[in-house]
Amino acid sequence: METWLVTGGAGFIGSNFIRHILAQNMVKIVNLDKLTYAGNLLSLSDITHNPDYTFVRGAIEDLPLVQDLLCRCRPATIVNFAAESHVDRSIDGPGQFIQTNIVGTFQLLEAARAYWLQAPPGTKAAFRFIHISTDEVYGSLGSSGRFSERSAYAPNSPYSASKAAADHLVRAYHHTYGLPVLTTNCSNNYGPFQFPEKLIPLMTLSAVAGKELPVYGDGGNARDWLYVLDHCRAIQAVLVKGTPGQVYNIGGGNEKTNLEIVHAVCDLLDRLQPRKDGHSYRRQITFVQDRPGHDRRYAVDAGKIRRELGWNPKETFDLGLRKTVEWYLGNPNWCRETLRGSYYGERLGLGTTA
Ligand code: NAD
Ligand code: DAU
Repeated sequence: METWLVTGGAGFIGSNFIRHILAQNMVKIVNLDKLTYAGNLLSLSDITHNPDYTFVRGAIEDLPLVQDLLCRCRPATIVNFAAESHVDRSIDGPGQFIQTNIVGTFQLLEAARAYWLQAPPGTKAAFRFIHISTDEVYGSLGSSGRFSERSAYAPNSPYSASKAAADHLVRAYHHTYGLPVLTTNCSNNYGPFQFPEKLIPLMTLSAVAGKELPVYGDGGNARDWLYVLDHCRAIQAVLVKGTPGQVYNIGGGNEKTNLEIVHAVCDLLDRLQPRKDGHSYRRQITFVQDRPGHDRRYAVDAGKIRRELGWNPKETFDLGLRKTVEWYLGNPNWCRETLRGSYYGERLGLGTTA
């Protein structure tokens, strides 16, 4: 059985990906994660004792550690999820985003290049480095159009700029050294195990806690939502069938304004866990100061991955959102333990902290 090294596997998408892959009983997984505030081993508690799974605590920018790990586990594939992922936090403190997303990706690429260069011919030919990136590198759209793989990079936040820099490094390692890399640029994910600083879990937990639901600006900013398992399936398709050196955009074709999303969460909660006073959770919506530099609209053209790799999302938005909201209501322990000591629903991203 071959081994895949997954970085950032204790986070939202990484933990869903590891569970999805291990369920197929075809590879061993080594998960390298620094366990920042966003990484949580509780998200993997059901697979901790799986003999095909190993956890290593460490940072991707720790070159000796990564070199040693590659030497010991001899992975056929590296999947790089590790990142600082929250736009608001990048506005308050960009430094850690530069360190993890740019320096970290660079060090991981260096370790991968050295490992790949000295690998036996069979391993060398089959090796893949897959870099998980975001649609935010393309900047903001006007009222029409979608991002394709040919769209120009125009990142607007420190987060997206750091991801764009990493994407360029990944590309350069293919062009210059021939390292077999693939990059995916995906739209907004939703689903179980997402840290409750992000829109959907934050609104769900704040609503049932009787707190305000802060919608930035006029609520008209639009995102293209994809259920996390559909993202995991897309990454697997890219790994197995994608062409090294290529970029694949991934998106759900579910474009919604933020206000539509918050309304949908409130309406679901009205049915699943009604307020005691009989009013709708929509009453708790408040419009608050906008995010600085807030991108207005994202929409992804996923035609290339559909045509070339035969991937299509399976989840409908209505059912996926229902599963997500039910998951948060049904997992208060995970929510409590994940948030403990690190985040209390306070407003982030106004850029007022030095
Ligand atoms: P997340 O914040 O939930 O998880 C990130 C994980 O990386 C955490 O477990 C954290 O502990 C770990 N990590 C952070 N710094 C590290 C380091 N230096 N070394 C090792 N591990 C480290 O993020 P996510 O939402 O799961 O996103 C995963 C990846 O997918 C990111 O690269 C992100 O840019 C990308 N992405 C996310 C979305 C989305 O909607 N969430 C969409 C497109 C792309
Ligand atoms: O597009 C892909 C990106 O999606 C990923 O690369 C990022 O890692 C991921 O965090 C996500 O970025 P967003 O900034 O789009 O996600 P967030 O959940 O922070 O915000 C979604 C939208 O909701 C955005 O327009 C800001 C708005 N928002 C967010 C919060 C937290 C609110 O209106 N109120 C809020 O309280």
